[in-house]
Amino acid sequence: MTQADLLRSESLRFRLRHATDAAHRRLEESLALQDRCRSTEGYAAVIARMWGMYAPLEAELARVDLGALGLDMESRFKAGWLLTDLAALGFSARDIAALPRAARIPVLDDPVDALGVLYVVEGASLGGQVISRQLEARLSVTSQSGGRFFASYGARVGETWRAYLAVLEATGATPDAAARIEAAALDTFACFEAWLGEWSFDPAGRPEVLA
Ligand code: HEM
Repeated sequence: MTQADLLRSESLRFRLRHATDAAHRRLEESLALQDRCRSTEGYAAVIARMWGMYAPLEAELARVDLGALGLDMESRFKAGWLLTDLAALGFSARDIAALPRAARIPVLDDPVDALGVLYVVEGASLGGQVISRQLEARLSVTSQSGGRFFASYGARVGETWRAYLAVLEATGATPDAAARIEAAALDTFACFEAWLGEWSFDPAGRPEVLA
């Protein structure tokens, strides 16, 4: 192990990445984005399904005051971006109201737990940058035409992630807090897996959520 590895291995972020690595790989597989995004309809179904998770999840996060820890949650919420995308992709307010929402979301018993949830949704914005470029190349979807969610922070994604990591490392400095954050991150991945796992996929790319 090099000195750099040693330093990284002491960070909570490294611990979370290690603990959730297998779940991340399973999620990537079950999302099957390459297959689903062969058509704009298939992509729209992905956005609708994501909204079904982010809407209740962020309603729960909004109950926690993270401002005291130095995190401005308002600027990090993503359900609004998903709504913008759904509208751009042709969903009416009535279609959106009829979309299914996840019943199982992480339970936040302590404000610190929110940092474990945020690890998952803020981390996903890193992978989102790769997806965003693919969407534009394959479907000509840009942040103005249905790709706002995956574009997320755009050029500011690095600094936004580092600001979150600074709060994560400071707040998770005690063994008890670190254990809570890890449990919440694992639980959040399990909620995403359950929600995406119970979603049947029509290879023809039919928007099954509207069926
Ligand atoms: C097809 C779907 C996905 C792809 C291709 C993907 C890809 C990636 C990539 C390339 C990174 C590393 C980015 C970097 O270090 O700059 C990353 C990080 C991450 N992704 Fe994903 N991702 C996908 C889905 C998801 C989903 C659905 C979630 C959770 C809801 C998620 C959670 C995370 C987390 C937490 C990290 C940060 C790991 C760390 O470095 O600590 N990803 N993803």
